[in-house]
Parts: sequence; structure tokens; C-alpha cells
Amino acid sequence: MKITFYGHASLGITVGGKKIIVDPYITANELAKHIDINELEADYILVTHAHGDHILDVEAIAKNTGAVIVSNAEIAGYYENKGFKVHPMNHGGSWQFDFGKVKYVNAIHSSSFPDGTYGGNQGGFVIEGEHKNIYIAGDTALTYDMKLIPLRTKLDLAILPIGSNFTMDVDDAIIASDFLECDKILGYHYDTFGYIKINHEEAKRKFYDKDKDLMLLEIGESIEL
Ligand code: NI
Ligand code: MN
Repeated sequence: MKITFYGHASLGITVGGKKIIVDPYITANELAKHIDINELEADYILVTHAHGDHILDVEAIAKNTGAVIVSNAEIAGYYENKGFKVHPMNHGGSWQFDFGKVKYVNAIHSSSFPDGTYGGNQGGFVIEGEHKNIYIAGDTALTYDMKLIPLRTKLDLAILPIGSNFTMDVDDAIIASDFLECDKILGYHYDTFGYIKINHEEAKRKFYDKDKDLMLLEIGESIEL
């Protein structure tokens, strides 16, 4: 499994021979100017919730690629009405896709579209690939529900928001890492706006001091699991 960070909460995942884009917010991100969304390949686009900083480039990428948009029923319905291919899910449900199994799980946040349309309840995704399992938290507070995830899935990586203000901060992400029984964390949802700027070295050191590994990728950088 290969994971590429496209800035903010935007990810590219290659798994089981398929390409997945998660929460694409690239064209308005000053820090991601070197990423051209027209060059992104996608068989699927996973959307955690309907906020503008997670859906901005969904339609453009779906048009370019013909990707299937996977999200909660309300977000999937919104895009289906616009003629896009979708796969609706809801909390606690799993689906065996051709690249692996995806479960839509709880997050504590909100989820209306920028135009005010109801975007259902926000979530995160657990992806069980052929060899590795990951959790993409989406925008969320620290929540006890994270303890449910390792009861079913042994995680190899957890992707957690760490920017605070709208989501968990670094210290809560460390507790989340305990709840998830996963010491390998990729941080996201930081630095994009003034509200969520963080000190990278301090964040990494806090994880290191708890014998955990916090990875902060350059925008466009990839890791291989
Ligand atoms: Ni949000
Ligand atoms: Mn957000």
C-alpha cells in the first residue's frame, strides 16, 4: 500500500492495483500549488464529510477520472443527483471493494456542504488492504469510539488530524494512538490555515517521548507500507 500526502486532509492511496483519492482539497491550498489535480488518477474518491476543505476538488477529479465517490448516504446522494458514480455507506457498515474492505466509522465533527445542503453525519474510514490496514480518521475530536477499531482490525497506520481548533490536537492524537493500538501515525489537517498551524518538531518529539512515531510528509511525498 502506497500513501501520498496531497496537503491538508487530501491523500492518494494505491492498494490492490487501484487508486484512491481521499478528501481532495488541493486547488485552493496555497501550500499545494505544485500538485496538478489533472494528473491525479483515481478509481475511487473517498469523502469523510461535506465540508469545503474536504470536497473542493471531488467533482473535477471525478469528471477527469470517472472515479466512484464513496461516502455516507447523504453525500453519495448529493453527487449521484449530479450524475456522478457513487457508493453510499453509513456508520458501522463495511463493503468489500475490488481493492480491499472499507468500513465507515464514527467521527465527532459536523458535515454540511458549503451551500448549506445536509451532508449526513461525518465519518472516517478503515481500509483493510491485501497486506496492510489503515484508519483515516477524517475531521474528528478524540473519541472513545476509536477503541472499537482494534477490536476488529489490527492497524498498521492511523492517519489522524493534529491541527487542533477544528479537530484533535497533537496531545489528543497521542491518546487516540493508544485507543487505536497503533503507534505509527501520519498527521494531517494542520498548517493549511492560520487556525491550525503547528510546530512540527514539538509534535514529533511529543510522539517520540511516548515511543510512538509521528510522520509529517511534504506535500506530494509518499510512504510505502
Ligand atoms: Ni470539517
Ligand atoms: Mn476540515
